[in-house]
Amino acid sequence: MKADRGVVWTILELLRWTTDYFKAKGVSEPRAAAQVLLAHCLGLERIELYLQYNKPLTAEELASFKTLIRRRLTGEPTQYITGHQEFWSLDFLVTPAALIPRPETEILIEAVLEQVQQPDSPLAKGPVLDVGTGSGVLAVVLARTLPDPWVVALDLSATALALAQENARRLGAADRISFVQGDLSQPLAPGPTFALIVSNPPYVPTGDWQRLPRETRDFEPRAALDGGPDGLAVIRRLISTAHQYLLPGGLLALEMGQGQAEAVLDLIAQQAAYGPAQLRRDYQQIQRVVLVRRSEKA
Ligand SMILES: C[S@@+](CC[C@H](N)C(=O)[O-])C[C@H]1O[C@@H](n2cnc3c(N)ncnc32)[C@H](O)[C@@H]1O
Repeated sequence: MKADRGVVWTILELLRWTTDYFKAKGVSEPRAAAQVLLAHCLGLERIELYLQYNKPLTAEELASFKTLIRRRLTGEPTQYITGHQEFWSLDFLVTPAALIPRPETEILIEAVLEQVQQPDSPLAKGPVLDVGTGSGVLAVVLARTLPDPWVVALDLSATALALAQENARRLGAADRISFVQGDLSQPLAPGPTFALIVSNPPYVPTGDWQRLPRETRDFEPRAALDGGPDGLAVIRRLISTAHQYLLPGGLLALEMGQGQAEAVLDLIAQQAAYGPAQLRRDYQQIQRVVLVRRSEKA
């Protein structure tokens, strides 16, 4: 792209050029990335780019857009460049302190709400525990959706918790969420407290790390993704302890990785306190979410 004096770029020309350039450089979703970055640079919504497609960019706008293009070419995810990701139709702030929320995680919310919204469900009022809250997506959506909830959002990372807290404040859910730093159940008072425990824990096997896209490997926090040698280190600890914190009949809902369903069902079967488990597939037909209740009698 030439930014020489005298060369004028319109929004449409720049979108076309950037899409082709990203394509040639192997950037994923090149057209969407070009649109999102240009809209961010100009302070517009994506749709507005096409309403103002003939508008020429100033030299300053062009220079700052070039900086964004360069950042994307290093592998930096578009969401960390813009600082935003939509989840459950809500605008969440994202920073490298936390995982960028993924669409698969909406399956977990859908599955939980299905259970909660059954007539006379004892789950509807919570309390809810979100283990590994990251940017706070699960805690915030549940705090906004459940009637009269009280949610505890827990994470090892203080910087992730600060981000989650900011998201809760911006999205009007801060008064219903307590933020707690710690390792799984370690900061919690012992005893059955929660009607719902949800978690999208780290579940990538350590040996798969080098095969992840560089956007993830080089930019997202490893502690949010690396689940130990078989990917199940955190899931194993969660399943073996969560029932002690669930009220009788309470629900544990976990996200997991491709190919982990069988091992996760085995881990659940080893705990007498749980009833039968249910699985949910994601958009790619991968078993992505497991749901299990603490038995009423346990
Ligand atoms: C996969 S991210 C999920 C973030 C968010 N819930 C989401 O769905 O986008 C996992 C989160 O778990 C946190 N985490 C990892 N190990 C933990 C542990 N032992 N105790 C508490 N949080 C942990 C990480 O810091 C990270 O924020």
